[in-house]
Amino acid sequence: HNIKVDINFAVKSSLKSGLDSIEIDEYKDKANIGYQKLLKLVDKGDIGFPKLVDQALDNITAYAKKKLGKFNDLVVVGIGGSSLGLEAIVNALLPHGYNSLTFSERGGFPRIWIADNVDPYKIQWIMKNCQPSDTLVCVISKSGGTVETVSNFNILYKWLSEEVEKPKDHIIVITDPEKGLLRKWSEENEIDTFFVPKNVGGRFSVFSPVGLVPASLLGLEIDKMIEGAKDFIATNLQQALVLSAIYIFYIEKGYKINVLMPYTSRLSKFADWYCQLWAESLGKRYDKDGKEIFFGTTPLKSVGAIDQHSLLQLFKEGPDDKVFTFIEVLNHDADKKIVSVMDEEVDYLKGKSLGELLNYELYATELALKNANRPSVKIVTDIIDEYRLGYLMMLFMYVVPIVGLYFNINPFDQPGVEEGKNYAYGLLGLRGFEDYIKKFEQGYLK
Ligand code: PA5
Repeated sequence: HNIKVDINFAVKSSLKSGLDSIEIDEYKDKANIGYQKLLKLVDKGDIGFPKLVDQALDNITAYAKKKLGKFNDLVVVGIGGSSLGLEAIVNALLPHGYNSLTFSERGGFPRIWIADNVDPYKIQWIMKNCQPSDTLVCVISKSGGTVETVSNFNILYKWLSEEVEKPKDHIIVITDPEKGLLRKWSEENEIDTFFVPKNVGGRFSVFSPVGLVPASLLGLEIDKMIEGAKDFIATNLQQALVLSAIYIFYIEKGYKINVLMPYTSRLSKFADWYCQLWAESLGKRYDKDGKEIFFGTTPLKSVGAIDQHSLLQLFKEGPDDKVFTFIEVLNHDADKKIVSVMDEEVDYLKGKSLGELLNYELYATELALKNANRPSVKIVTDIIDEYRLGYLMMLFMYVVPIVGLYFNINPFDQPGVEEGKNYAYGLLGLRGFEDYIKKFEQGYLK
């Protein structure tokens, strides 16, 4: 493989506000403190995502093989950590417009629909596009009770059971091994079920069945994804320390926004996945000792070259409060030469390819930001495939907790998200959440 981390535009020699060589060492030491804390949590068994690279994949691939050719559509029901990883995988690795290909063009693999939001319009169109008899519904919820997932699944279950004799043959559940509504239901109804290990949280679960089962059903090489993730851990952890060092440095300097800007539309959903990872892990009111600190910086997704025509103006001339992480793809698949059919004014493009143009635009943005003294780092990958995607996801799954643990916050909980869920349960009248409806009435309806 060939994935590199380039920090040239975040160091003193090229950027006034950059790190000098002493600071680089100092901040790598700080990152190492976060890393050692992470290692401890992994060794104790509290945190499990790094260990997913050692799991056997046979169960998942055998299941996918059994289902191959049997369904025209796969509907995945899940939200947040239970859908964003898959979105990133699908966006990066399946052809653009994949669902418009024929069954045979897709090699017998199903089309993919992701029912995340409880948006009636979206769910209606999923049901209109699919035939129950030809659809596999994969419902994913670690807790087994997330209101959006449960609601969408109930609607889809009814839709299936009105049309097919054995709905159970059209369902697969991915959930906690012991707890939750979904686990109970799948056990009682003898539904095919895969488990999310207890020590793997939603946004760190892409290498568990949460990401791997649907990816395998779609014909993607999940062993290569795991191999990429594993190689990153085995050989290139230094890259996580360097990136974390830069982020820690700029957080300490008061920079407020962390921009991820891949120069390819194929990593657009990857950037969404990253935003969740960063925001839910690092946005915390209290540190681990219970001190109120309102910690966090805001992640921002930006896609090149599209956002050169929108956000870049702010990036370059707005407040100097952002750290940029670019992703460059050296060799773009199916690269096309630009032909000149108009007049000599566009002759300068002749012979160049779209991929080259995209990368030139990236270099221009990097330079424009550097000239405005805005810090950036760049991750460079030779191509996009299962291996590289697995590698990149694991890289960031290390970086984010390293940063959080260095600052003494817990990157693995999400009390803020849970409070919102509890209010919603109270409003919906779920037993046990009556207090929340009272609190809601006091705070909102007054
Ligand atoms: O990262 C997280 O923990 C969350 O985003 C969850 O993944 C999300 O709330 C969905 O939860 P669940 O998988 O329990 O349905």
